[in-house]
Amino acid sequence: MAGSSAYGEQKTPGDAVQEPRREGIKHGWIWPVSRGVSGNVWGRVVLSLKFAVVNQKGGVGKTTTAVNIAACLATEGERVLLVDMDPQANATTGCGLDRKQIRTTIYDALIGGAPMEEAVTPSPLSNLDVVPSTLDLAGADIELISMISRESRLKNALVGVEERYRWVFIDCPPALGLLTINVLTAADFALIPIQCEYYALEGISQLLRTIELVRRELNPRLEIAKVILTMFDYRTKLSQDVVREVREFFGELVSPTVVPRNVRLSEAPSHGLPVIEYDPRSKGAESYRRLALEVMRFGQERSG
Ligand SMILES: Nc1ncnc2c1ncn2[C@@H]1O[C@H](COP(=O)(O)OP(=O)(O)OP(=O)(O)O)[C@@H](O)[C@H]1O
Ligand SMILES: [Mg+2]
Repeated sequence: MAGSSAYGEQKTPGDAVQEPRREGIKHGWIWPVSRGVSGNVWGRVVLSLKFAVVNQKGGVGKTTTAVNIAACLATEGERVLLVDMDPQANATTGCGLDRKQIRTTIYDALIGGAPMEEAVTPSPLSNLDVVPSTLDLAGADIELISMISRESRLKNALVGVEERYRWVFIDCPPALGLLTINVLTAADFALIPIQCEYYALEGISQLLRTIELVRRELNPRLEIAKVILTMFDYRTKLSQDVVREVREFFGELVSPTVVPRNVRLSEAPSHGLPVIEYDPRSKGAESYRRLALEVMRFGQERSG
């Protein structure tokens, strides 16, 4: 597989302008790729749609969701940026980024003042670039406290880079500290994975309060795009109860696609592959393909 450039394929403003629209591949949707956002150094004008994948509860499927939806859209020919805002760096390694390849990380861009474009690293998958994370980021929640624009540093750092991508997915850490606040301030939409397990809704009201606070004070356009049920086990009544409970609570926001518990999804990251590469015929791959299409359709509706 060819790696994509950090700047995508357009190297000159001329190239960019000659491609005003492109057809959604395979699924018959027509994308207006070029829309009115300025600031792209190559002259290509793209409205990027930025999704925070967020839930402060640990292990609910945030990274699995971010990596696999991003990979599915990239495979569809969409230009995608995945930003890893978790010091655990699971999204970074889950996309197959070679640690030796990583020069500049999200930490350098957020805290060290490095330009974000230096941190953009091509992944082995075409059309998918990654802003990698490392354990350095673990101290950032504290370091940010005393910094100017501490809640908006990610938003500001993305300016000039995000316009090169139609889709930006940002993987959050399992906490509601300043790293997550930065993600919610930078994002247009939130995707909330919820695991079909005991106490599925535990902490959700705190998350919703945080989203509301960010919307009021920092980012009025932030909207919950979808709630995604993950690790559903068909055999258990518990899973079914959780699905019912979450649908009662969130109503229409809950995605019709429920991600089953699937061993291929848990194996794929250790091979540095998204599941559609690791086992494209698995149930996990099938469900993330469907979710990616839902997200695509959502984005199409929102961008008119
Ligand atoms: N549908 C699934 N079926 C089976 N295993 C899954 C599924 N989704 C995620 N997993 C596995 O469950 C674990 C937790 O998933 P993941 O890392 O995506 O959660 P997370 O919310 O990002 O966790 P953290 O809060 O630590 O960042 C991982 O080992 C992952 O491979
Ligand atoms: Mg994670």
